Amino acid sequence: MNAVIRATVVSAYTLGWEVIGFIDGYEGLIFPVNHKVLTLENTQGITATGGTIIGTTSKGRFVAKSGLGENEQITQEVKKTVLNLGLHALICIGGDGSLTAAEQLFENGVPVVGVPKTIHNDLSATAWTFGFDSAVQCVVDALDRLNTTAASHKRVLVLEVMGWHAGWIALYGGLAGGADVILIPEIPFSYECLCTHVEKRMSSGAASTLVVVAEGAASKGGEVMIVDSATKGQVRLGGIATRVAQEIMERTGLETRTVVLGHLQRGGAPTIQDRILGTRFGVGAVQLIQEKKFGHMVSYLNYQIGAVTIKEAVGQMKYVPSEGQVVKTAQAVGISFGDS
Ligand code: F6P
Repeated sequence: MNAVIRATVVSAYTLGWEVIGFIDGYEGLIFPVNHKVLTLENTQGITATGGTIIGTTSKGRFVAKSGLGENEQITQEVKKTVLNLGLHALICIGGDGSLTAAEQLFENGVPVVGVPKTIHNDLSATAWTFGFDSAVQCVVDALDRLNTTAASHKRVLVLEVMGWHAGWIALYGGLAGGADVILIPEIPFSYECLCTHVEKRMSSGAASTLVVVAEGAASKGGEVMIVDSATKGQVRLGGIATRVAQEIMERTGLETRTVVLGHLQRGGAPTIQDRILGTRFGVGAVQLIQEKKFGHMVSYLNYQIGAVTIKEAVGQMKYVPSEGQVVKTAQAVGISFGDS
């Protein structure tokens, strides 16, 4: 997000505009309003750092009330802030929840443009979202490390990764990191197929087996595993790696360990690709404002930054095609999806 902020500030200042950042995202727009002026000086060098210098709120008052059903009072508060500060446009950076809120503001007369942000890469209106590549890099680093210990000890290692209900992080991370099995929500797996595959590999002399499992993956007929039922309206996924490891141990007798990569995937220095995409999105958002294309968000399609209406974009998720090229490539290099 910092790359987007830096690019926005630099390109806006070039046009003679001033930029302010709302502290903790939408929360800063409503009482008690909290913002700071973003300048060339105080955004210097932030492209190389993950996160956001203005903070964010994942399940705050705004998302809970406006994102999940419109709240008139909150909308009015935002409009008042926009008016009081004399804002010409609002850039909303977020995933489908935040962009839904952005669309509601737009429909209520607020000049909004959007920037898609999610490590899951699961928005259909854009081929890539920034954060995804850095999350995948984190998975690959973890697999590189796990591979050496698993091979030395002749073990099975199960790595649980994020992705919400999409398998992109698991698929790309697993493919690049040399996983032997990848379990994703789009391809329900069977414990029998999975364990037979693992057993065959190990008995035919493989030194180790690395299994990457997406947090949203489930066995055929099984349920997605949940850590706790509801934090402000949204469940948290997790626990599938432990279940998978238990089944492998019980059915094959092989020593199996689990690692849950968790929030490591959401931090640290962004990759080159994410820095560039974030920068292109930031510049693109300023261009949208210049062209008065409110109600639109930047997207990345066919190697170009373009624009789509936020309305068109939100809610249209992008899942891994189970018969798609990347899955087929993975299968062609011997990776099992636990389904056959
Ligand atoms: O939405 C992104 C995500 O990282 C999911 O992949 C994960 O399940 C969830 O957020 C974790 O939420 P929290 O940061 O609230 O624990």
